[in-house]
Amino acid sequence: MTQVKRVLFVCLGNICRSPMAHGIFRHLAKEKGISIFIDSAGTSGFHEGETPDARAQKTMKEHGISIHDLHSRPFSVKDFDDFDLILVMDDSNYSNVLKLSRNETDKTKVHRMMSILPESKNEDVPDPWFGGQSGFTQVYNMLYKASEAWLDQITKQ
Ligand code: 4NP
Repeated sequence: MTQVKRVLFVCLGNICRSPMAHGIFRHLAKEKGISIFIDSAGTSGFHEGETPDARAQKTMKEHGISIHDLHSRPFSVKDFDDFDLILVMDDSNYSNVLKLSRNETDKTKVHRMMSILPESKNEDVPDPWFGGQSGFTQVYNMLYKASEAWLDQITKQ
């Protein structure tokens, strides 16, 4: 992996999982004094312009992290140029992003969020949209663990 300075998180709506990952990563990078450009996007534009889901914001707030400033935007081909690392939440995001890739360089930037943890290599970060608050807590815990591991890997380069 080439030096990573810009990270993009991708899910379907960009109102639950990827803004949570964005907020956790931003929080951890600041805490560790790591300078890194972070953004998030959705493979769909269903919620374009919207702030994160209220349940996602509540879960993050319980952990002292605010994401109210984030707004949903759709993933675009230009993101392959603008980011060094593109972390997707599930298999469906993975194939939708890869469909837009233009070459091998684009493809090698795309990884599953949980693939950094040996015990959960190909695990999806489950879509919490149709469930209750507990799904968001589960997502938070998964994202926090994976974010710490990705940041460790990035800083080791
Ligand atoms: P996300 O969750 O991909 O984690 O942001 C979803 C948000 C909205 C919808 C699906 C998933 N939706 O169908 O509107």
